Amino acid sequence: MAGAMNEPFTIAVDGPAAAGKGTISRALAARFDMGHLDTGLLYRVVGALTLTGVDPVEAARGLTAKDLDRDDLRAPNVAQAASKVAVIAQVRAALVDFQRAFARRSGGAVLDGRDIGTVICPQAEVKLYVTASAEVRAQRRFLELRGKGLNVSRAQVLKDVRERDDRDMNRAAAPLRPAEDAVLLDTSQLNIDMAVAHAIAVVENKRQG
Ligand code: C5P
Repeated sequence: MAGAMNEPFTIAVDGPAAAGKGTISRALAARFDMGHLDTGLLYRVVGALTLTGVDPVEAARGLTAKDLDRDDLRAPNVAQAASKVAVIAQVRAALVDFQRAFARRSGGAVLDGRDIGTVICPQAEVKLYVTASAEVRAQRRFLELRGKGLNVSRAQVLKDVRERDDRDMNRAAAPLRPAEDAVLLDTSQLNIDMAVAHAIAVVENKRQG
């Protein structure tokens, strides 16, 4: 592995909801001592604000790093609201600069989302597309939400996952899809340690090569 890096080095991690992007991204950031931005939080902040009546484009234009610390962002209704505002091209446009600045910070950055490798950072040094079957993703999200004490049903979580997949993949603005040069990582049959080890190996290869 190359020594500690001051140069920008961007790792783009895209994929559908609950595929394991967040866990993998946090592990990569820790392993390579890089910053991590969960870009879904940006859309979640905008979604949460629209639930209180704020205009989504205004919300996106006024967003600051501090907003990402709100503690209501993981709620299922906020996830749905996020995927609804995420179809609006002006909302997406307002969030581009923040993400690109983060991506090029010195020391490197891991960004996870839906369009990082395709739209936000098409020049990213590493692109991963993390996926898993809808059933496996819904089961993971179900356990996660239950673990937080939320009273959700398995069937409702699967329905939510499918609805978001459909909206994210079929929208006109920056639809979810793997970049042509992305490495695909299907985590359906992998535990967390295996998925993380695989992702680390991909990054190490790129850093050496
Ligand atoms: O990743 P997370 O589930 O937190 O994202 C919430 C929603 O935000 C997604 O369903 C998607 O619609 C939107 N999103 C997006 N582009 C990103 C990250 C998230 O459209 N880069």
